[in-house]
Parts: sequence; structure tokens; C-alpha cells
Amino acid sequence: MPLFELSDIHFGYPHRPPILAGADMVLDAGERVCVTGHNGAGKSTLLRIMVGLLRPTGGTVAAFGQSRREEADFHDVRRRAGLVFQDPDDQLFCPTVAEDIAFGPLNLGASRASAIEIVDSVLTRLDLMHLRDRVTHRLSGGEKRLVTLATVLAMEPDVLLLDEPTNALDEENEARLVEVLDALPQAMVIVSHDPHFRRRLGTRSLRLKEGILTQPAPPKCRNASVP
Ligand SMILES: Nc1ncnc2c1ncn2[C@@H]1O[C@H](COP(=O)(O)OP(=O)(O)OP(=O)(O)O)[C@@H](O)[C@H]1O
Ligand SMILES: [Mg+2]
Repeated sequence: MPLFELSDIHFGYPHRPPILAGADMVLDAGERVCVTGHNGAGKSTLLRIMVGLLRPTGGTVAAFGQSRREEADFHDVRRRAGLVFQDPDDQLFCPTVAEDIAFGPLNLGASRASAIEIVDSVLTRLDLMHLRDRVTHRLSGGEKRLVTLATVLAMEPDVLLLDEPTNALDEENEARLVEVLDALPQAMVIVSHDPHFRRRLGTRSLRLKEGILTQPAPPKCRNASVP
């Protein structure tokens, strides 16, 4: 059973031309699907539809074996599928980095002590302990990017939905991010304009064009189809 199955998804913002016009996507366990497409093609919109932050005007979303329609259906989806937003300011809202990372686990019922343990372990994994007590809104763009990833990893989701995860990262941090993600067992949808990053992590690729997701020719070897 796929983790996600999007069928014939249609969507347009009010008073704007259609963005998605029959998009299909299946995400199976263990896959890391890269989604490419030009600026404004609808990639971020698609990720928001997957977790129910936007509702399609046509088509169906199934996640974790169940059809998802109403807001209540998506609460469980948002717990199990961690979306790293393209803009970190959409994700970070607590006064400090540690509080932002602890927010998710606390919300799921973790004790204060175990949330603190999670904060320290995620920050250590990402080599970010020096940011632990910083004021979130005063971080640099790349620092914010890394902290958003930490907030999502702290939730230990079953699926990671990453919207331009390497945006604003320096080479060293990008390399560390590749290592961290490569070691994770979770399925991922990776929206990225960075071809090196896609080749390094992707298992297959889809292109979003004119509202439809298309698949390139079958790969001859692993990663060969990840342009
Ligand atoms: N809230 C909104 N209201 C109206 N139009 C919107 C809204 N959000 C996005 N759009 C428009 O919808 C289209 C798709 O946006 P989206 O952010 O999904 O593109 P994208 O593929 O993620 O682009 P990028 O590569 O630049 O991140 C764009 O033309 C954008 O201007
Ligand atoms: Mg986008």
C-alpha cells in the first residue's frame, strides 16, 4: 500500500489560472521522489495539498492507506508527514530555537524532559548545538533553514516532504544535510532546484509541467533518472 497516492489533482488559487490540472503521484515506502519544475509550476502548492493545508478542487488524496478529504482527516497526516516549508518564516514561530524544536514533541504529549532530550539529540545530529538558545527570528537564512529541518526531524515523521531544503545552505551544511537525510529510512518527496542534491538523494524524479506530473524514461541504473 503506498504512503501517498494523489490522483487527478486539480487546483487553482482564487481568481488565478489553474495550477494543477490532473496531477498524479504515488509515494511508496523507501522512495525518495524528486519533484522538479520551473518557478511557479506548483511544486509548493502540491506539497501543501498533500498535507491538507490546501484542498484540491478535483481529484483525491490518499495517505497512509486512507482517503483524506476533511480537515480532521489531515490531522493524522500532518503528524506522520513532516513538511519543511520553502520559507522558514512560515515554520518558525517560537522565541528560541530550542522551543521551536520542542514544540512538536510537546504537542504530541512528550514530557518536558524528553522534549529537551529530543532537542539536544536533533541539534547534535545536525551539528547545531551552538544555535540551541538563539532567538529564532535573528538567525541567518541558512541557520533558519537548518532549524526548520530540525523541527521536522524532531517529530520523527514517517514521510518527509522537503521544499527546497538546501536553500541558503553553504557547501558544508549542504553536505551534512545530504549525509543526515541519506541515513534516514523515511520516504521523502524532495522539491529541489539543486541537481547535485537531487542526484545524490533521489531514487526517481517527476517533473511538474502545465499542471501534470510526468515521469522520465526508466532508469538504467540507480539515480540515472534523477536529472
Ligand atoms: N496564496 C496564493 N494566492 C495566489 N496565487 C498563489 C498563491 N501561492 C502561490 N500562488 C501562485 O501559484 C503558482 C504556483 O506557486 P508555487 O509556490 O506552488 O510554485 P513553485 O513551483 O513552488 O515555485 P518555486 O520554484 O518558485 O518555489 C505561482 O504562480 C504563484 O504565484
Ligand atoms: Mg516553491
